[in-house]
Amino acid sequence: MMDPNEKLCRALLENLDMRAIAAMAENRIIGSGNSMPWKIPEELSFFHRTTQNASVLMGRKTFESIGHPLHNRRNIVVTRDPSWSHAGVTAIGNFYQLLELGIGDTLWVCGGGSIYDALLPACGELYLSIVCGKFEGDAKFPEFDHLFTLDKTILTCPRFRVEHYRRRT
Ligand SMILES: NC(=O)c1ccc[n+]([C@@H]2O[C@H](COP(=O)([O-])OP(=O)(O)OC[C@H]3O[C@@H](n4cnc5c(N)ncnc54)[C@H](OP(=O)(O)O)[C@@H]3O)[C@@H](O)[C@H]2O)c1
Repeated sequence: MMDPNEKLCRALLENLDMRAIAAMAENRIIGSGNSMPWKIPEELSFFHRTTQNASVLMGRKTFESIGHPLHNRRNIVVTRDPSWSHAGVTAIGNFYQLLELGIGDTLWVCGGGSIYDALLPACGELYLSIVCGKFEGDAKFPEFDHLFTLDKTILTCPRFRVEHYRRRT
């Protein structure tokens, strides 16, 4: 029998243009105490440029750490709390609901750790910033080599580089 998350990811992969975007340190850390362990304005600019005018999906904790919806994007937040709401945000209670929202543009999977864990297998592409150095933290990016193959490095800056990956077929 197919694993329930595998079934979900297959349905999402077939019906949506989902892409993951993340920034990870050399030791795979992506977060610390519900915030980013670094402040790199150029990396943040890359994130905002890339996700403009599309849909963004994030876990409730990541949304709370940002504190407001991202401009010029359809903001979707996943939470198990049915009473949770925020102006300018579409709240969903499970990932199957993504199929009911009529998303016609790219859906960017923006974290955090639990969302990457669940949905990386449903993403056709991955834009991964590799931040130079090792950081302390409590949220990690999952193993992904079995899912993706490196396409090319699309941006190189002093403190990070951005790698573009495509899903293995
Ligand atoms: N470096 C990066 O690129 C990057 C990007 C984003 C986030 N981050 C970092 O990642 C950390 C947060 O990650 P996290 O894993 O702790 O939290 P998260 O993934 O942002 O949010 C977790 C929450 O999402 C909801 N959720 C998760 N799976 C669900 C499901 N299957 N169905 C319904 N709701 C679900 C739950 O909300 P409820 O508790 O409300 O039910 C859960 O508590 C922070 O440190 C943040 O700064 C880093």
